[in-house]
Amino acid sequence: MNQVVDKALRGMALLRVSNIRHWTDRTFSFNCERPQGFRFRSGEFVMIGLMVEGKPLVRAYSIASPSWDDELEFYSIKVEDGPLTSRLQHIGEGDEIVLRPKPVGTLVHDALLPGKRLFLFATGTGIAPFASIVRDPETYEKFDQVVLTHTCRGVAELDFGHDLMARIRGDEMLSEMVGDKLRHICTTTREAWPDMGRMTDWIRDGRLAAAAGGALDPATDRVMICGSMAMLQEHKALCEAAGMVEGSNSEPGQFVIEKAFVD
Ligand code: A2P
Repeated sequence: MNQVVDKALRGMALLRVSNIRHWTDRTFSFNCERPQGFRFRSGEFVMIGLMVEGKPLVRAYSIASPSWDDELEFYSIKVEDGPLTSRLQHIGEGDEIVLRPKPVGTLVHDALLPGKRLFLFATGTGIAPFASIVRDPETYEKFDQVVLTHTCRGVAELDFGHDLMARIRGDEMLSEMVGDKLRHICTTTREAWPDMGRMTDWIRDGRLAAAAGGALDPATDRVMICGSMAMLQEHKALCEAAGMVEGSNSEPGQFVIEKAFVD
């Protein structure tokens, strides 16, 4: 690992990349080394990117790996004219990314009041922080039931989530920890798939309540939301309509949203 103390790096670490996977023409994921002593809470994000013309070009990325893992995992969109992702999508095994080792964010257990059922609402690459949360033992110590929903335009975009579930099932320690507490509900909106439609519509028309065993209840349910700004606002309004109050690290509540974007 090359944690170079170079002026141009401005306190960032240079980390070698591995396990690059291109899921669709719009999404890819990769792992990188974890800097020594780098700690974070599952669900947090960091600034990562590339050195471009001698300067770090970084964006906020949720860490998709759990806080106990030796490596860091990221899941990214590809934006054709995005300053960072247009370059980052061409990264190869052994190349280096830069990371500012200052994790922050609100999609963390500390920002939620105790509850019984945890809903994790994601669209697209918004599943990334929840890939971390659903592999964190704290999640299952704090909740009896965890419902991860993932809505994407097309079927192939659901693959990252399916693979995540397979990785959990295939790992002895993880599968024992998770048991039968985790539900994965995935829907598409623009391509045929057994379950279709936006999760906001599922909440309104009762399909989510039917699938999860009850409508959103502020007394027992806690919610984390991650996706586009429009999606965040719509889910937030539905949580508030159900009588939930937004939480933060300093004042935990019944639901939390994350507004960290890529490109
Ligand atoms: P739709 O196809 O109906 O727009 P995007 O790639 O644009 O971020 O969208 C990812 C997924 O999120 C799509 O399935 C999209 O549905 C859905 N989506 C977009 N806006 C909202 C919203 N306001 N509430 C819930 N889901 C949304």
